[in-house]
Amino acid sequence: MNTPRQELEARVAAAVHRLFSPAPPAPYVRPCPDLRHGDFQTNAALVLAKEAKANPRDLAAKLAAALALADLADQPDIAGPGFLNFRLKPAYLAQQISLRATDSRLGLPAVANPETFVIDYSSPNIAKEMHVGHLRSSVLGDALARLYRFLGHTVITDNHIGDWGTGFGMILFGYKRDGDPEKLRQDPFGHLESIYRRVQEEAKADESIREAAKRELVLLQQGDAANLELWNRFLKYSLEALDTIYRRLGVKFDHTLGESFYNDALPGVVADLLKLGLARESEGAVAIFSDGKLPPKDDPFLVSRDGKYDDNPLLVRKSDGGYNYATTDLATIRYRHDHFHAKRVLYIVDGRQQMHFRQLFAAARRWGYGAMDLEHVWFGAILGADKKPIKTREGGDVKLKALLAEAEERAGKIIAEKRPELPEAERAALGRVVGLGALKYADLAQNRNLDYVFSWEKLLAFDGNTAPYVQNAYVRIRSLFRKAGLEQAPVAEVALTEPAELALAAKLLDFADSVHLAASEYRPHYLCLYLFELATLFHKFYEACPVLTAAAPVRDSRLVLCDLTARTLRLGLDLLGIEVVEQM
Ligand code: ARG
Repeated sequence: MNTPRQELEARVAAAVHRLFSPAPPAPYVRPCPDLRHGDFQTNAALVLAKEAKANPRDLAAKLAAALALADLADQPDIAGPGFLNFRLKPAYLAQQISLRATDSRLGLPAVANPETFVIDYSSPNIAKEMHVGHLRSSVLGDALARLYRFLGHTVITDNHIGDWGTGFGMILFGYKRDGDPEKLRQDPFGHLESIYRRVQEEAKADESIREAAKRELVLLQQGDAANLELWNRFLKYSLEALDTIYRRLGVKFDHTLGESFYNDALPGVVADLLKLGLARESEGAVAIFSDGKLPPKDDPFLVSRDGKYDDNPLLVRKSDGGYNYATTDLATIRYRHDHFHAKRVLYIVDGRQQMHFRQLFAAARRWGYGAMDLEHVWFGAILGADKKPIKTREGGDVKLKALLAEAEERAGKIIAEKRPELPEAERAALGRVVGLGALKYADLAQNRNLDYVFSWEKLLAFDGNTAPYVQNAYVRIRSLFRKAGLEQAPVAEVALTEPAELALAAKLLDFADSVHLAASEYRPHYLCLYLFELATLFHKFYEACPVLTAAAPVRDSRLVLCDLTARTLRLGLDLLGIEVVEQM
């Protein structure tokens, strides 16, 4: 089932093929920037005129005459230098709404060529409590996994936790000295983090502590039984604590293959890189250097300093024999290739790691994994009111656990004010869905590459581009159906006449376009924006067009429109990992 945009694109392409040989590249149809001039627009004539050195308005007229659109749109207007503007016909809109009304996928077929994706997200370091920064990765990764699964791809989600590495030397040393098994059990992250902080502080001033921590790490890496036993315990409790948060967030992983999982593979990776001549020894360490094949400004293994280029190597083995973050990531790429047969890997990781991933991907290509599509889907920071990365009043990290609790509590209060008559338990349940939804949506609604300022007032507002606003449109429709004593819309002929009705219908038909755009650019904010606009058009429609009091055929047609709107809002939110409620 094509969206109107796809259908127009196909028709324009067919006409272009008839007019030109050899056929030029496929034309492009986009929503009209000003809806007063039409629903969609193409610049095909402008592009073709440049190639053919012809007058673009003449070409636009020729193209318009060659188009077969009678069932779909009015004869297009030629606008400005040679744009074609299309206005969809009410009968076409009505027919397309009917098709979607009986389709469980709401007009969005699964893709013809599914691919296997690995999505690497959340991925916290487990010696530290999860903080607000982990929200973005967890929520974005989950939304992308849902989007790609819905599109029919095979999606494997993997939480690449940091459960190995230098931090554990300090933790083992500190825990042996002043650890408390009971505290570890009750609050693993809190306990380990405070130990880690203390030792880190002491190690700054005291060489012997640094040495002692290093010894513990070497023992762990050599398989020392006591250290391994402790480490296993840290891991077990930390994973349990992580799980509580993920369950609350509604985020799931198929695998949690942390850094430790790849530990045994690391010597082999480095040996392979050395053997292939991709890496070489340098000052006792092993690193990957530029191969000189890229222009210096694009080469991630070079940096420009004072007008000349210096080496910017990627370390894969330290001079003390330890391995690096990048070594594990290379082993992980090999595993995901060999074991999961991944065609694409998405890394949903903070923008501050851009250099790491540029080097990693370039190294992987040279290592023979060039056929895999590796993407760093990076995001910016969450800022406080002072426009600096958000902190607690005491200046510490905002713990994710506390953030989730506050979201639920604040939403619960709002619900209590709006619906004092609801039983306490029901209000709490609503508070959970609305609060978490608002928190997730606030994150997803931002272009991920931008930093954004966190504000409880904004994200919980019942108007604006927020989850409560979209959820509320759904609730309004559901209460309409309750009032009518109906579970869903009757099977009825759809007829559209009123402008508000036509505008809502046209928006409903764009759903698949917004899902494809959000998925292909790894930017769920396009879907948020769509849902916000859909909810807005629904509210306008609802004010302008009576539903239950309209005469029978109009009433039934409008019920179909309302029902499809509710299902689109619900599915759209679900693809973002956000639930709906039946009343609020
Ligand atoms: N644990 C890392 C951190 O907290 C993120 C890991 C991201 N995934 C990866 N394959 N490098 O910074």
